[in-house]
Amino acid sequence: MNRPKVVVTRRMPQEAIELLEKEANVYVWDSEETAIPQTVLLEQVKDAAGILTNVADSIDKEVLDAAPSLKVISTMAVGYDNIDIAEAARRGIAIGHTPGILTEATADLTFALLMASGRRVAEGAAYVKEGKWKSWGPMLLTGQDVYGATIGIIGMGRIGEGIARRAAGFDMNILYHNRSRKPDIEKSLNAEYCSLDSLLERSDFVVLLAPSTPETYRMMGEREFKLMKSSAVFINASRGKNVDEQALYEALQDGEIWAAGLDVFDEEPVSLDNPLLSLSNVTALPHIGSASIKTRTKMAVVAAQNLLAGLAGTELLFEVKGDTV
Ligand code: DGY
Repeated sequence: MNRPKVVVTRRMPQEAIELLEKEANVYVWDSEETAIPQTVLLEQVKDAAGILTNVADSIDKEVLDAAPSLKVISTMAVGYDNIDIAEAARRGIAIGHTPGILTEATADLTFALLMASGRRVAEGAAYVKEGKWKSWGPMLLTGQDVYGATIGIIGMGRIGEGIARRAAGFDMNILYHNRSRKPDIEKSLNAEYCSLDSLLERSDFVVLLAPSTPETYRMMGEREFKLMKSSAVFINASRGKNVDEQALYEALQDGEIWAAGLDVFDEEPVSLDNPLLSLSNVTALPHIGSASIKTRTKMAVVAAQNLLAGLAGTELLFEVKGDTV
């Protein structure tokens, strides 16, 4: 019997590739840092039954049209806004993702970004390496207190809860805004549910974790940044499309908010011309929320398992059903 073909759009941990190779002929775009060119992707998927992808590839109608034998798309991510879900579903293509697995690693990185932005860690590190450090100064590189501050979490899913647990360890007051209330978290972490506007007005750190949907598109814009305290720090670890970057730039530039920590951008990789990168009060990271060795390896293995289940026509470990981040 012919073995099915699988297209892996990026170099992956070997465990995942070996799993796939047991059942399929595997094509791998063997690069860590560059995305598979569209022409190569379109050519390779022609006879593919499965695609193992990631947040950097757009699996849109053009790709689906080029892949008439496709049975399953599996992404090594919790978010799947890079996939045309409606179109894939219409064609009966199963879609897998990796929720849960990356929760703690992403919460760690998000909290690290919060601390780095509040306490100017990246700026301080650059200051030393650039030879600017001439003397200890009473107000040199002073930042915002994290311990005991008020954190506002927008999007209380798994990762939001992970952030709330970490915030509780820093004795922070926890506010959250979410589509639905989370009575367990309110009780166990003393978190307070509030409207988005009230959260923005009261928080010292605003952490955005909402998934990317038509409803969350540019949900943080001029009006929202104006509501925030001038001493507040904004953290985005969700998707760049949730933020109006021009409005964020202006808010930072005009001192309407104090700093921002960004792991995600509207366009990725972010262009060096993006004005946000010119600001010393922006800490920018290259979308590495889940990037611990253990977590990324597990995500790749689970994505491979999802893909094999899809090829076999059996239930995926984690199938895209809607509410995930
Ligand atoms: C996700 O999983 O959606 C992250 O953005 C990448 O790990």
